[in-house]
Amino acid sequence: MKNNILVIGSANTDMVVKAKTLPLPGETLLGGTFFMNAGGKGANQAVAAARLGGNVALVAKVGNDIFGKQTIADLQKENIETEYIFADETAPSGTALIMLNEDGENCIVVAPGANANLMPIDIFKVCNIQEATIILMQLETPLQTIEAVVKMAKENKQKIIINPAPAQLLSNKILDGLFLITPNETEATLLTEVVVVDEVTASIAGDVFINKGVQNVIITLGKQGAFFKNKTMQFVVPAPIVKALDTTAAGDTFSGAIAVAITENMDWQSAIKFAVQAASISVTRLGAQASIPFKKEIN
Ligand code: RIB
Repeated sequence: MKNNILVIGSANTDMVVKAKTLPLPGETLLGGTFFMNAGGKGANQAVAAARLGGNVALVAKVGNDIFGKQTIADLQKENIETEYIFADETAPSGTALIMLNEDGENCIVVAPGANANLMPIDIFKVCNIQEATIILMQLETPLQTIEAVVKMAKENKQKIIINPAPAQLLSNKILDGLFLITPNETEATLLTEVVVVDEVTASIAGDVFINKGVQNVIITLGKQGAFFKNKTMQFVVPAPIVKALDTTAAGDTFSGAIAVAITENMDWQSAIKFAVQAASISVTRLGAQASIPFKKEIN
């Protein structure tokens, strides 16, 4: 069966410490709890799409080490196609150090390792790339690879979704013709130079993306929900009120869910409601992949 959602992105092992507060520079805090968890924006989005009903393949690069092997084994248990997770002999697997406070807010530093070596030449080895209905990417892999995929997918008239996280500037070459972009407020602010804080500012930022050739824009607004805009409509889907334990991977859950909703031909309102619900559940649980819900948990 063909994989209709192809995620191209990072796979990390997350080392997490949850404490009362986040430390200030130079400060040492005592009293946190530690756990390790599968993460990486690409792998998280692949897991979200798979748990929410998608038929998913992940293209990624890991080190030839215990973390890389564990990553592949974990993804296989999620029924994700791992044939194109390459092993790099020159770099360790990606890792992320995450600190969490008691409100579930985080600080993350990523050591990309092998993720930084996922190159256009690797993408050309992916035989079934043209069969994917949706190609979903984030910004933890090199921009030259993202540009190569965008070029190829545009020629094949495939739908590309970019979740522009972590925030980085993107060329007009990438944005022009993009089916969907899913930034949060910070990422939208960097990419459009409009300070996004609410629906009004999200709408102005949405116009900037649309003028650059992006077909559909969803700006996630945290507790305020998600804003949608294209050339014909705009609206906000509010988020349910939940007690956040850990916001890590909420954006990944959202983007993975949207990819599934699109392959299931949901209308935009239903698609975004589905993704907001999935992301809202994820913030009530600890961890990145550990927090991602299954389809049966969504109303
Ligand atoms: O989006 C959350 C992810 O960002 C974490 O899992 C971490 O690995 C970093 O990539």
